[in-house]
Amino acid sequence: MRRTGAKAAEILMIVGSHVAPGVTTDELDRITHEEALKRNCYPSPLNYRGFPKSVCTSINEVICHGIPDSRPLAEGDIINIDVTVFCEGVHGDTSTTFIAGETDEFSKTLVAETRHALYAGMDVLRPGSPVSSIGRAIESHAKAHQLGVVREFIGHGVGTDFHGGLQIPHYYDRRANTRIELGMSFTIEPMLTLGAPDMYMWDDDWTALTVDGRRTAQFEHTMVMADDGVDVMTVTPAGECAHDMYR
Ligand code: MF3
Ligand code: CO
Ligand code: CO
Repeated sequence: MRRTGAKAAEILMIVGSHVAPGVTTDELDRITHEEALKRNCYPSPLNYRGFPKSVCTSINEVICHGIPDSRPLAEGDIINIDVTVFCEGVHGDTSTTFIAGETDEFSKTLVAETRHALYAGMDVLRPGSPVSSIGRAIESHAKAHQLGVVREFIGHGVGTDFHGGLQIPHYYDRRANTRIELGMSFTIEPMLTLGAPDMYMWDDDWTALTVDGRRTAQFEHTMVMADDGVDVMTVTPAGECAHDMYR
């Protein structure tokens, strides 16, 4: 998990470094695909339940699962790039929201606080913590910044399966009483919104958008529950990842 996660993290940093006004998401898809193959990885999204590309690219009001296409990025766009790769029998799944050029203050706050919300959800975890503690921490961080939390997509168990085992809501759900045990591997991947968190889907059956058309951001890591807290898999051996550019 650590070796595969490091490859996902490296690829996400490389693809993210190409984000700029004028670049198309097809170009980001091509780079993801090539960087995955270079590392002996398969890009997990490709043909997963019919998904047609190697990476998800979700711009502005797209919540998640955006399909790369020929649209060039515009100055001020925010774009979540979600990289998952399969290598040595396991998946590593990680995403960051990048900014093309300069953007407005609302978008900057949304992106910064969505990143903080992910880490708030990770920080509360110890072996035996209920899954609900994650959503409690994320939702309270979002509320403090008057941001919405999307409910339709959740964190998940990840390992030999892309999606399996744990289901991790990013809002507080007291029924989420499964306990996170030592050694469990999973993602946390909150999607926060500037407006209402309500979602609708395009008829491509993938692209999920906010109903009100306002912007949304997402950050994701793959992690394993360790004795003293979560051990993040989707970082390089030096502990770097694409989230660091907001430090
Ligand atoms: N990487 C996404 C996640 O975080 C899943 C993408 S499924 C795909 O769970 F088919 F859209 F790639
Ligand atoms: Co995921
Ligand atoms: Co993902």
